[in-house]
Amino acid sequence: MKKALLLLSMLTVLAVGTFAQSVQVGIVLPTKDEERWIQDQTRFQDALKTAGISAQVLFSEKDSAKEKANVETLLTKGMKVLVLCPVDSASAAASADAAAKAGVKVVAYDRLITGTMNVDFYVTFDSFSVGAAWGSYLASQAKGTGNNLYLYAGAASDNNAFIFFEGAWSVLQPKIADKTFKIVNSDAAVKLQGKAELTREEMASIIGQVTTNWNPNDAKSKAESNLTKATAAQKGTVFILSPNDQTARAIVDAFAKDKAVKKAYSTGQDADKVSIQYIIDGKQSMTVLKDTRVLVADAIKTAISFAKGETPEQTKTYNNGAMDVPAKPSEVVSVTQANVKAAIVDSGYYPANLFKNLK
Ligand code: BGC
Repeated sequence: MKKALLLLSMLTVLAVGTFAQSVQVGIVLPTKDEERWIQDQTRFQDALKTAGISAQVLFSEKDSAKEKANVETLLTKGMKVLVLCPVDSASAAASADAAAKAGVKVVAYDRLITGTMNVDFYVTFDSFSVGAAWGSYLASQAKGTGNNLYLYAGAASDNNAFIFFEGAWSVLQPKIADKTFKIVNSDAAVKLQGKAELTREEMASIIGQVTTNWNPNDAKSKAESNLTKATAAQKGTVFILSPNDQTARAIVDAFAKDKAVKKAYSTGQDADKVSIQYIIDGKQSMTVLKDTRVLVADAIKTAISFAKGETPEQTKTYNNGAMDVPAKPSEVVSVTQANVKAAIVDSGYYPANLFKNLK
């Protein structure tokens, strides 16, 4: 009798424990080391409070093995929908496959999961437009011909790095062909400068040379070594395709230290708070606001429609090498000194008191 009671109480503890921890939606983000993903976490926490779903956010510390372990943990907690932003687009296929095998719907979040049939939806911004916005900004500031163009890119393991680059190339290539710009720091890009559209392999050859790995230290050392090799004529006024805010700050800081650089135009994305201050101060020229409130709302909406057995609304597909993944990309906004107050503060994205000298 005593034994039976003990067993019963143990089972109760187990059941209550499992119930208390169960999650309907598992969210896995790549790293806490970048403001971008902290923005997403915060916005998820805000939105989940009112959404009435049980969810948990886990971070993968830029490690695909940790990411796989996170997905396993969420599977044991009974998740029904996985919202995954992969550290590495290709490696994450294994997590998508494991989730699908357990009957879980797989939503790729911001970064596509590639090489698997097991992606049910892709919640994303219009990343081609992000790159096109960089190209348009740089082109709008260039006068005459022979302007120095420095190219940098994201991590080759992130499918987005290719889409951003493709968008940028679509605007910059004609401006290279008509001699407005002259590429300084990539002979692979120079070799391909006559081609309006690049294959994935061709893009990979350029990205391989100019990647920052989404890492500010790599970005800094790449910029420094480019500047060491550059001639005086390749300095003066420079145009920098810098791929996100964190790496942009590392790159513009490196350029600012070089006395021969007189004026630098640069790009970015994510509306990092520090970069918004850089833009106000004239140290970084622009960023692309990707409103994480919108992406989070899209992810929650998608998860809810899957939970109800419905099909989320799609406007486009993205090929991941194995299938066309349905998606409904959301819009992005270019931010420069001219519209920073309207786009960032008046829009309610960030409060004014975070910034100095905002006019
Ligand atoms: C995201 C960017 C982010 C970058 C580095 C990309 O996939 O779209 O917003 O800055 O990864 O984490």
